[in-house]
Amino acid sequence: MKTYKIALVPGDGIGKEVVDEAVRVLNRVSELDGRFSFEFTEYPWGCRYYLEHGEMMPADGIELLSKSDAIILGAVGFPGVPDHISLRDLLLRIRHDFDQYINLRPVKLLKGAQCPLKDAKPEDIDMIFVRENSEGEYAGSGAWLYPDSPQEVVIQNGVFSRKGCERVIRYAYELARKEGKTLTSVSKGNALNYSMVFWDKIFAEVGKDYPDVKTYSLLVDAASMFMVKDPGRFGVIVTSNLFGDILTDLGAAISGGMGLAAGANLNPEGKFPSMFEPIHGSAPDIAGKGIANPMATIWAASQLLDHLGYPEWGKKIIDCIEKMLSEKIALTPDQGGTASTQECGKALAELLK
Ligand code: NAD
Ligand code: IPM
Ligand code: MN
Repeated sequence: MKTYKIALVPGDGIGKEVVDEAVRVLNRVSELDGRFSFEFTEYPWGCRYYLEHGEMMPADGIELLSKSDAIILGAVGFPGVPDHISLRDLLLRIRHDFDQYINLRPVKLLKGAQCPLKDAKPEDIDMIFVRENSEGEYAGSGAWLYPDSPQEVVIQNGVFSRKGCERVIRYAYELARKEGKTLTSVSKGNALNYSMVFWDKIFAEVGKDYPDVKTYSLLVDAASMFMVKDPGRFGVIVTSNLFGDILTDLGAAISGGMGLAAGANLNPEGKFPSMFEPIHGSAPDIAGKGIANPMATIWAASQLLDHLGYPEWGKKIIDCIEKMLSEKIALTPDQGGTASTQECGKALAELLK
């Protein structure tokens, strides 16, 4: 029997609560399937660890994670540790060091999920974001000059390399071709006269290899407007790191909320482990209450199963989430129910059979 080594980084706040339920579901899948099992190793890294050790993870943290087949992360960040330290030194560090340059975030309205858009039906909201995940606005390059003086200046550089743009754009074209969907590039060349003009140029260049893929180019402001007014126009969307971050929270809002939104951080070549996580944060406002919705993390676990080569299980999990939403089975308060995080996870594991 094949055994997959999965590293767990539950992190902060509701992270541990939701990751436990994803583990429950994965264990159930392996039990029902019988061909494979999971060996989980949990790492207690995060803000509490930082307050005790002065670092978000130990010096050999990346090396420890590199021994796994995949990583599941809960959430990082908590009051008491500055966000730019906690996130840069743990979550963004893993994405960067493992060259997880694709952030794949489905925005799909399941039957029964709440949607604030009047008249939107599930078939109208079914898109997939390919977010650049290794450079761009998140490159971490810049300077802080003359701190605390009247001359104070900060510079935050966006870094857009040919390699970095080409690989994410090519991935998106391939995905659009495979799924038979349109491809929309979202950028902002009218104002960002270097980075986004370059992005648009590469989008057109790579597109020459994909004459069969129908493409659109939108400015990010117009794209956000269309996500609300006409979400049905989108299939696959490819965009930069920061734009993808913002647009996928908007995507979460139109497809059931943060409790349902998931993402995969992929190193497509498999040279390093990929990482699966909900897109929400540590939710300090509800942490420790046992009412966080675990479905986003369980959805991320379904992406993990797709990634390991078991898409039939990935789909089965999404079908179960949809059944729970449409029949109002064990829903947490964000979905209008009264179930706890654990009751929700247990119900889903039960439904899988
Ligand atoms: P957040 O996503 O933690 O919370 C936003 C709102 O959504 C809150 O009202 C919260 O209760 C709700 N929410 C989030 N997840 C939920 C779930 N599973 N079930 C029910 N409700 C849920 O965003 P924030 O408040 O802006 O950030 C809090 C902390 O998390 C900050 O430190 C931030 O930097 C960090 N953060 C981390 C990640 C990550 O680790 N991937 C992502 C976003 C924010
Ligand atoms: C996300 C988060 C992170 C990001 C933060 C916490 C650094 O918002 O995964 O969407 O911006 O990528
Ligand atoms: Mn985000």
